[in-house]
Amino acid sequence: MGCCAASEVRDTGADVNAVTWIESEKLDVSNKRCYTLRTMNDFNFIDLFAGIGGIRIPFEKLGGTCMFSAEWDKYAQQTYAHNFGETPAGDITKIDESDIPDHDILLAGFPCQPFSIIGDKQGFEDTRGTLFFDIVRILKKKQPRAFLLENVKQLLTHDKGQTFAVIQEQLSRLGYTTYHEVLNALDFGLPQKRERIFIVGFREPIAFAFPKPIGAYKPLSEVLEPDEMVEPSLFASERIQKSRREKCKGTPFFPSIWHENKGGNISVLPFSCALRAGASYNYLLVNGIRRLSRREMLRLQGFPEDFEIIGNTMQIRKQTGNSVAVPVVHAIAEKMLQALRQRKPMIRLEEQLLLFENRINAYTHSADRIIIVCKESEKDILVSVLQQFGSANRIQSIITEDELDEWYEKALRGQSSELIGTKILQKIANEIKVESPSTTSEFDDFFKERGYDQLSPIDFW
Ligand SMILES: C[S@@+](CC[C@H](N)C(=O)[O-])C[C@H]1O[C@@H](n2cnc3c(N)ncnc32)[C@H](O)[C@@H]1O
Repeated sequence: MGCCAASEVRDTGADVNAVTWIESEKLDVSNKRCYTLRTMNDFNFIDLFAGIGGIRIPFEKLGGTCMFSAEWDKYAQQTYAHNFGETPAGDITKIDESDIPDHDILLAGFPCQPFSIIGDKQGFEDTRGTLFFDIVRILKKKQPRAFLLENVKQLLTHDKGQTFAVIQEQLSRLGYTTYHEVLNALDFGLPQKRERIFIVGFREPIAFAFPKPIGAYKPLSEVLEPDEMVEPSLFASERIQKSRREKCKGTPFFPSIWHENKGGNISVLPFSCALRAGASYNYLLVNGIRRLSRREMLRLQGFPEDFEIIGNTMQIRKQTGNSVAVPVVHAIAEKMLQALRQRKPMIRLEEQLLLFENRINAYTHSADRIIIVCKESEKDILVSVLQQFGSANRIQSIITEDELDEWYEKALRGQSSELIGTKILQKIANEIKVESPSTTSEFDDFFKERGYDQLSPIDFW
């Protein structure tokens, strides 16, 4: 079990601003009692659904000590043990929460499972039997100062948003103030399009802001290994290579990653699409000829160069595909620690409304045709804010994300049904629903990645 004996002597209830001396067995190298300074740079955490420790790395780098880890996959456990010197505990559902050490921050990239919601009953029982329930029972018992949860972006829209509503409801019942955001690894320096939802929670109602995208990402030339260094078994057969070239529209560029979408279309990209544990063998091909090497997969997730992964090709693809973009977690971790250190109170609703008014003014001054796209749950409050501030007549319309999807669908049908065919249109509309691109650039990417932009020129706006 990845548990450190220092847990007994750490005062996890300490004021994060206070500097206290605590006994630390971590430094006890000569059987002498050692003491270490406890500040927010000296915090501790637990790593649940730990995989190969992608979430652990940045929290450890920022000064945290891991008190406990849990992961039941044998091969992921081996990789974890090899890199962190401790084998995680197994099935979390079998671990009593009282046996888990006290900790400041709970970390969990938990698998998404459907919750059954019967009527309006949204109690603790609703998540029983799911792995989220295990997070809830540990939070309830241990009351850490903060937590970070990670999941696929579709968690937001799963079961028409019901699953996410239950998650938020449960976390808030435990007294946590939560924030969530979908972040893309491409925006944090990695050449991998990987969008994931991150949920951050604090026991105290403190202010928190997710990190801002840094913009540029590393070129593939800094990630790919020379072909000569790559195992021959990773090269695709002549037949596959030829079929990729034939399916590739336009003139390919190099270095590139060739992505095959569900419909069999090939896109040639200057970055990788999300590494996926269960993707087909040829889902991503470097320059259209070979699969990614283990080092390349680790680099695409931003792991340090000295990290070593254990297992055969299939297990390595599973481990890296299940893991996280380390720089994204690092950026969030920095913001979490800052928030815990500063403990600024959350912005009150009236202040939020004022900030919002400023934003609307900024928009209305610079443009004359404004459409606000928002979540269904935000629509009423937006309308009321606009009315309150007398700005309603300056905005052309406020639409929800679902309505936006309908627009796209209509635009596609109206303008291109003869060219594209209704079956493909239906398929595109369904994919849009799941992926829900909400900005024009996301929408362009969505089309390019799937090769739909080759079908016909479409003007959506
Ligand atoms: C999405 S992955 C998280 C990966 C991790 N964030 C990383 O950086 O590698 C979820 C992990 O939860 C593990 N898992 C699923 N059910 C579990 C259980 N009941 N007990 C412990 N681990 C479990 C899976 O084996 C998988 O590695």
